[in-house]
Amino acid sequence: MATIKLQVETKLNNPQFFKIGGDTQIQRLGFGAMRITGPGIWGMPLDRAEAIRVLRRLPELGVNFIDTADSYGPNVSEELIREALHPYDTKMLVATKAGLTRTGPNQWVPQGRPEYLIKQAHDSLRRLGLEQIGLWQLHRIDSSVSRDEQFDAVRHLIDIGVIRHAGLSEVSVADIKAASKYFKVATVQNRFSLGDRGSEDVVEYCTAHGIGFIPWYPLAAGELTRTGSLLEAIARNNKASVGQIALAWLLQRSPVILPIPGTSKVAHLEENVAAGAITLSDQEFSELDRTTVRRRG
Ligand SMILES: NC(=O)c1ccc[n+]([C@@H]2O[C@H](COP(=O)([O-])OP(=O)(O)OC[C@H]3O[C@@H](n4cnc5c(N)ncnc54)[C@H](OP(=O)(O)O)[C@@H]3O)[C@@H](O)[C@H]2O)c1
Repeated sequence: MATIKLQVETKLNNPQFFKIGGDTQIQRLGFGAMRITGPGIWGMPLDRAEAIRVLRRLPELGVNFIDTADSYGPNVSEELIREALHPYDTKMLVATKAGLTRTGPNQWVPQGRPEYLIKQAHDSLRRLGLEQIGLWQLHRIDSSVSRDEQFDAVRHLIDIGVIRHAGLSEVSVADIKAASKYFKVATVQNRFSLGDRGSEDVVEYCTAHGIGFIPWYPLAAGELTRTGSLLEAIARNNKASVGQIALAWLLQRSPVILPIPGTSKVAHLEENVAAGAITLSDQEFSELDRTTVRRRG
């Protein structure tokens, strides 16, 4: 299995860094902090001490981009990040989101009233112990509230300095264009992986416009992981795990892709970070590309 390598060579088609909003440089391979909560993304994690160890290992491994949300726990993920890492290294970007409320384990209810979004961003700022949230994302566009009112609330948060850059989650190209009338869309976070290519059109739009694309559920490879599959053979050739190849493929798919694999275990974190050192050959990349289904999302 590929070992940890902190500095990945900078390559033209697969650079190590990305600048969020054009000015905030991060290592492209980040960390998703949803899994450091309890079952159903509810309450405290089963192994709280290990969750803290995972977070403290991030800067040691060179990871300086963490994705969280007010709704993870709720509040638990943000509180643990502060406990483990505050005061933050100046290069660390903790991105958070709001727009989904929680009524119980595995329950996610959109809530996009402007006053609610603005209050949640202020609460995240306080919980994380930040002076400004470097990247704040609208977790969902709430279909029961005018889209423009939600975008206007994001604009307001930028204007009053609570957030520096803003992103969207689970959106179409049309949504990105509509939001761009209110604020510069710095990132888009949609479900996307080797096994789930429904957002190809959004990836292409983000690539063309320098918008960071944060694929959630990046380790999902579904059918491709079956014994005897192409993915398994490529993993064997690279002395890597199937998950590492799924991450390496994302990093090579577009220079704006910023994968945020999530885990509650240090050993898994180390394995995931090591994927940044894997370079698939052109043949491996295009074979994987061809084998997976491209759908328009
Ligand atoms: N915008 C949205 O709507 C949205 C939705 C969902 C998630 N997200 C964000 O995206 C991030 C990633 O998504 P995700 O957590 O759903 O998917 P993921 O990162 O693809 O997968 C996480 C799962 O894989 C396991 N895992 C991680 N590394 C592993 C390894 N090396 N070996 C074996 N198992 C491993 C984890 O369990 P262990 O804890 O046992 O390692 C966990 O169950 C989240 O943390 C969150 O920040 C955003």
